[in-house]
Amino acid sequence: MAGSLDSARNRIDPEVRVCPDLVSLSHAVAGEIVHLARTAVQSWHGRFTLALAGGTTPRTLYRLLAAEYRKQIPWFRVHLFWGDERFAPPTSSESNYAMAYETLISQVPIPPAQVHRIPAESDPPDQVAQVYEKHLRDFFAETSPTFDLILLGAGPDGHTASLFPNDPVLTERECWVRAVLAPPVFPPLQRITLTLPAINQANAVFLMVSGTGKREIVQSLLKTPEIARRLYPAAMVRPVERLVWWVDQAAGGVDY
Ligand code: 6PG
Repeated sequence: MAGSLDSARNRIDPEVRVCPDLVSLSHAVAGEIVHLARTAVQSWHGRFTLALAGGTTPRTLYRLLAAEYRKQIPWFRVHLFWGDERFAPPTSSESNYAMAYETLISQVPIPPAQVHRIPAESDPPDQVAQVYEKHLRDFFAETSPTFDLILLGAGPDGHTASLFPNDPVLTERECWVRAVLAPPVFPPLQRITLTLPAINQANAVFLMVSGTGKREIVQSLLKTPEIARRLYPAAMVRPVERLVWWVDQAAGGVDY
């Protein structure tokens, strides 16, 4: 069964949505999140489980969710998680939690117990990964697929979350959460990340990709997907039901 499920997953082809710019892209994603959230809370488990991305691209989206789209989302039924976290205090400018807190969490009525932060600031990294993995497995015990939606970004090297090219963690098939070291060009180095098995157990994944620096990755995925899937972690993302690459004109120009 697992084999057939995996093969079924391999048939999920990405939708590619090209938007004029980051603001219009963020509005489009926000509208989809409203729809997914409302659909999820009407399902049997009555909740919407969303894993947030870090970096800079999602800032605009998070601010929109906290403002123009705030009243359209049933925040009392939302659970927030993270796709990855840097090893830094939750108040640090390097923390993905801190960015989400500033742009979204502090502005919406989500119960604090429903904000499932990765505690990446004290214990040894491997222990943090084990603790977060147990938390996820306990939370999703009865749920498959797991997350309703995972938001991800993509780096210019094709990384996503904290899954970087050629990292042995890409061959992980069991663990859901691992401690990893980012390449020196992407500080901070110590990270906690969901693995591909964890990401690919999500019902839907949205990758938000903006700027000319990501163009090569997007073009590779569109023109030579089999090669991209061997090279770039972002292209290895194959969720259960739905995969959308949201790209702006700069990253996903129409010459493909
Ligand atoms: C992180 C993110 C990382 C990010 C990409 C894109 O912790 O940095 O999880 O995967 O999404 O590096 O970053 P930008 O959105 O800043 O281009």
